[in-house]
Amino acid sequence: RLRVFSGIQPTAGSFHLGNYLGAVRQWVALQETHDAFYSIVDLHAITIPQDPGALREATRLAAAQLLGAGLDPARCTLFLQSQVPEHAQLAWVLNCLTGFGEAARMTQFKDKSARQGTEGTTVGLFTYPVLQAADILLYQANEVPVGEDQRQHIELTRDLAERFNGRFGDTFTVPGAHILKDAAKIYDLQDPSVKMSKSASSPRGIVWLMDEPKKSEKKFRSAVTDTGTVIRFDPEEKPGVSNLLSIYSALTGIGVAELEEKFTGQLYGPLKTELAGIFADWVAPFRSRTQEYLDDPAELDRILALGAEKARSVAAGTLADVYEKTGFLPAA
Ligand code: TYM
Repeated sequence: RLRVFSGIQPTAGSFHLGNYLGAVRQWVALQETHDAFYSIVDLHAITIPQDPGALREATRLAAAQLLGAGLDPARCTLFLQSQVPEHAQLAWVLNCLTGFGEAARMTQFKDKSARQGTEGTTVGLFTYPVLQAADILLYQANEVPVGEDQRQHIELTRDLAERFNGRFGDTFTVPGAHILKDAAKIYDLQDPSVKMSKSASSPRGIVWLMDEPKKSEKKFRSAVTDTGTVIRFDPEEKPGVSNLLSIYSALTGIGVAELEEKFTGQLYGPLKTELAGIFADWVAPFRSRTQEYLDDPAELDRILALGAEKARSVAAGTLADVYEKTGFLPAA
């Protein structure tokens, strides 16, 4: 079986629809066919300031949502990054192989640091992609299921793996990004020129999975489209309509071409209303399953402890190999 690894940051409130359609949906599918490791990356979360209590809550909520979305602890390894110390340890070694200019070229860093300002930008935010590389390489992952916005970080991971292998001998599997064509990038419902994102979206443009479904339905019904009348997939000319078609397709499995046919001769209103209903039908069982896990924190902690133990047994082997090749003496 090929191995997959992916990670997601805990977010206050809940995940958004872009996280689910771009990433989590494929995690659920891949646990059936791959040896799957999934991590809630709480170390990454503190690259911007976090209130400790809020972080704890967001982390439990993240785990509950991943289980609510269909991750099955019997089919995959789900764990918290901070419970596997090898992530931070390998990140240090990789930091020492990463060029300063190389890290400075990461577009997510450039965007985020521009928003935080020089004083607000931490060194942790700067080396964030290196920690991400460590996450992936510790598990010798073949594929990394992510949204389009993570492509550059996976490229860096490949470069670092090849660099280490070249200098110290074959050690790491060089991973590839696994990006879904139909939902690689879900856009803001109010401004379809930007991706749906917790930091950049307008409140009405972002669909939070744990919100009251009524609230999200309204966002679909008031989604920004264009002044035309034809329902056609055309991201250049019709970014809003195309985004709605992508979401519709991803939630139902119906191809975009088939949807264009289905909506021939119809105006945008019916598309929006129908999509709002489809979302509501999908999200209701997701929310109730998530709530069941939130109501049983002991079970949640048990699942995460087991996951961390399984993850460590793999991560420790890789780190030991790396330390030995690097020239560190073993503890007697
Ligand atoms: P994060 O937590 O920002 O996002 C989690 C996943 O959601 C995807 N995503 C989207 N997909 C489609 N459309 C959107 N609008 C959208 N917004 C977010 C992201 O691409 C991601 O797959 N750096 C990572 C977390 C991470 C990681 C890793 C990922 C840490 N270590 C190792 C893979 C492997 C991040 O911040 O994702």
